[in-house]
Amino acid sequence: MTIQVTKVGRLNSDQVNCVLRSAMLAPSTHNTQPWLFRCTSTGIELHADPRRMLPVTDPDGRELVISCGAALFTLRTAIHALGFHPATTLMPSRADPDLLAVVRPLAERTPDPKVVRLARAIPRRRTNRRPFLPTAIPRSTLTKLRHATELEHAWLPSLDAVQCRHLRDLSASARLDQLADPAFVAELGRWTHRGGEVRDGVPSYATDGSPTDEGWLLEEFGTDGDGSRPDPLVVVIGSFSDGRLDRLQVGQALQRVLLTATGAGLDTSFISPPVLVPSARAEFRRLLGCGVWPQVLLRVGHGAPLPWTPRRPLEDVLLETLVSA
Ligand SMILES: Cc1cc2nc3c(=O)[nH]c(=O)nc-3n(C[C@H](O)[C@H](O)[C@H](O)COP(=O)(O)O)c2cc1C
Repeated sequence: MTIQVTKVGRLNSDQVNCVLRSAMLAPSTHNTQPWLFRCTSTGIELHADPRRMLPVTDPDGRELVISCGAALFTLRTAIHALGFHPATTLMPSRADPDLLAVVRPLAERTPDPKVVRLARAIPRRRTNRRPFLPTAIPRSTLTKLRHATELEHAWLPSLDAVQCRHLRDLSASARLDQLADPAFVAELGRWTHRGGEVRDGVPSYATDGSPTDEGWLLEEFGTDGDGSRPDPLVVVIGSFSDGRLDRLQVGQALQRVLLTATGAGLDTSFISPPVLVPSARAEFRRLLGCGVWPQVLLRVGHGAPLPWTPRRPLEDVLLETLVSA
């Protein structure tokens, strides 16, 4: 049975279609797209899809929930840009922890130009794994990214040159730990270098030109330059606790940061080993101090343009409507 998109609150079915297609452009770990949406007469539900979890790479579904948080922020932004208030309830059901949020489009309002700029960045954002130019990123950009993170109740701690050096070593050894695990390598192989008609996973062209392992890690962290800050910029998004709700908020902060960077003409990509390998993450947490849980590590800079990574058809991520419009 094909599930149709229906009217939701004040959004007509074309507008619902448009905001859902925007939400699906969010980044997700290995492009698993681990989300499902249900349209009811009053709101759009966002559900985690545990069948799309990566059992080896992400055994407790931390990155799955962060990915869904990124889709949630995109949905909210798209609704707002159409001129509606996206009233959002996080984790509304104790009985159903996979129901991560409900977004109800309320009264029409003039969209905030800042949100419209973020919305315009949604289709332009890419994960750019190519080498970044050694161009300095202005300090004001870091301030903007920090502000974006805090608006979504997450935290972007500063990294000094010494911390960055430690983090680079930590990343390199965590990456080696990952590659020494045949189950990790097999899972990575299943989700990357995809081609043809496949609409999930990471296509070969999205990783072509990425430096290989060690070179890649060195490239990501750049040099210390005058010792003040590495270049390109490396930022970490953290939270003060590490529950499902925190991860959902981190995902929203992540997408606000990525869209803010895209809007400023910057490219971004992920450095995941130090947040995925448990011992490395514990060390990373100690390195940050102040009790912050590292959730996402990003590099920000200027890379060569690259094509988009495909998404599944909308029909594949729609749940049957329980209440008809
Ligand atoms: C939580 C999370 C973790 C990710 N980890 C990595 C990573 O370790 N390496 C990488 O190259 N991309 C990583 N990505 C980026 C995804 O591979 C990317 O979002 C996906 O392939 C879709 O491509 P797009 O971002 O260009 O739309 C991550 C994305 C998310 C949301």
